[in-house]
Amino acid sequence: MDRSDNSKPRLRSRRWFDDPHDPGMTALYLERYMNYGITREELQGGKPIIGIAQTGSDLSPCNRHHLELASRVRDGIRDAGGVPLEFPVHPIQETGKRPTAALDRNLAYLGLVEVLHGYPLDGVVLTTGCDKTTPACLMAAATVNIPAIVLSGGPMLDGWWKGRLSGSGTIIWEGRKLHAEGKIGYQEFMEMVASSAPSVGHCNTMGTASSMNSLAEALGMSLPGCAMIPAPYRERGWMAFETGRRIVGMVHENLRPSEIMTRAAFDNVVAAAAALGASSNCPIHMIAIARHMGVEHTLDDWQRVGPGVPLLVDCQPAGRYLGERFHRAGGVPAVMRELLRASLLDGSVRTVTGRTLAEDLADVPEPDRDVIRAIDAPLRERAGYVVMGGNLFDTAVMKTSVISPDFRARFLSDPAHPDVFEGRAIVFEGPEDYHARIDDPALDIDEHCVLVIRNCGPVGYPGGAEVVNMQPPAALLKRGIDALPTMGDGRQSGTSASPSILNVSPEAAVGGGLALLRTNDRLRIDLNTRRVDLLVSDAEMAARRAAWTPPDLPNQTPWEQISRSLVGQHGTGACLEPATLFLDILTTRGE
Ligand code: FES
Ligand code: MG
Repeated sequence: MDRSDNSKPRLRSRRWFDDPHDPGMTALYLERYMNYGITREELQGGKPIIGIAQTGSDLSPCNRHHLELASRVRDGIRDAGGVPLEFPVHPIQETGKRPTAALDRNLAYLGLVEVLHGYPLDGVVLTTGCDKTTPACLMAAATVNIPAIVLSGGPMLDGWWKGRLSGSGTIIWEGRKLHAEGKIGYQEFMEMVASSAPSVGHCNTMGTASSMNSLAEALGMSLPGCAMIPAPYRERGWMAFETGRRIVGMVHENLRPSEIMTRAAFDNVVAAAAALGASSNCPIHMIAIARHMGVEHTLDDWQRVGPGVPLLVDCQPAGRYLGERFHRAGGVPAVMRELLRASLLDGSVRTVTGRTLAEDLADVPEPDRDVIRAIDAPLRERAGYVVMGGNLFDTAVMKTSVISPDFRARFLSDPAHPDVFEGRAIVFEGPEDYHARIDDPALDIDEHCVLVIRNCGPVGYPGGAEVVNMQPPAALLKRGIDALPTMGDGRQSGTSASPSILNVSPEAAVGGGLALLRTNDRLRIDLNTRRVDLLVSDAEMAARRAAWTPPDLPNQTPWEQISRSLVGQHGTGACLEPATLFLDILTTRGE
């Protein structure tokens, strides 16, 4: 079908509620929806029926605030003349789901596609928050292509511990080190961690949750300013109300995701990700969203747009502050304004407001410069992701905004070879193996080593584990070496400040080059050429490949088995491949 087709004779929902060809079925549909208070006049009166895709539940504390916000969304929908119908989305809780929440992104996506396609909905409010809820919702909205708008639940308030900011996730990495070094006990570690979660809301650092909500806004899929309003703030309720109002207008205007999520909009996202110091999970999710939209936007585009863009936002883990302060400083609109002025964005793209991005940003006030820097006085130049290659893998990403001066001085400052590190590989077969052996003296780990973890990709783990930010052995920590170069086919938490080489694709479990690596092999990492190379002969590589056998991958649930058989690699969004291959033959898309 023609995705740019704007003709829409009447509301989609009327095919259920007002079908002149089958009045019997119409009566059947009406009867059930009328039995809890919605009137026949409302359902048949030409009012848009608006879904509220509810991602909050007791199992999903990061999104739980949406249970309350939904009533404000309903008010907004009704105020604008729509009829709200709220329904649950498969829960995705980043910290609670085993083996990993990432496994459920594609499952929630599939479920939401069926709901949006199969029920009488004219538009949908996507309630987003915790890491994978945002991409799952946007992937589904892209696939079905009915009018859709994102409502972030908002980050938690800023956390404080002993008089200083304590950011969710980031403080855990710090606390773990202090605990491993014996500087704090378990009780204090727990208090430290709890301090970083002071209210309802999602992670207050620029981890994957705040990053993905910010990028949804940068993409044009939420109202301006939506992403970073802290969950408990009064403005969050207003934003919920206005989002409910706006989706009704979008239905009347027939403003579809396909008109907003364009290639130019995805380019804008890459620039925004660099300026924000966004999570290293973002390329995976944004590539997946683009693919489900049918837009060609790959890691090559991340490499084309991102590396030249400076880091502007001083938020943890790349900087100092947290979400509440970032919001007060001006939030995402202020960052976008800065990028637009420097011609690093395409201002002509449309957003959910129906206006262009440039129009949305026209009246954005001057930000607090302590938190949101000017383009000519950034926190760090050239801060986007770097896409790596080499003889071990096709693609991997490195988040350069978190390479600290310390790390650079220690590992990348050989005057003869700047930005090059050569070291001995220490290979772990997964997180269990890492925890069991990291302190084994026989490994003889020193500052000339690269910690490598494998079998942690979408197939191997399954879902892809957030484990690549491995901390050095306690013996090195005690000597003050608090980071080593790390690499792996897993992901890492967006709250981590570790400059790892991540998302290595293809992964070891499907026979990627990482599978051939052995402990004590020599690795050369060259940031100038963007390569990682295993320094062994081609003949040796070929011999190792010939001897390789696929690992045994036991499944614990039916979905693990299904996912493993269909999922692609991190470098291409870790999508269920058939779901994107068949997009063009979804005959009812957008209808
Ligand atoms: Fe859910 Fe961070 S763990 S938002
Ligand atoms: Mg995470």
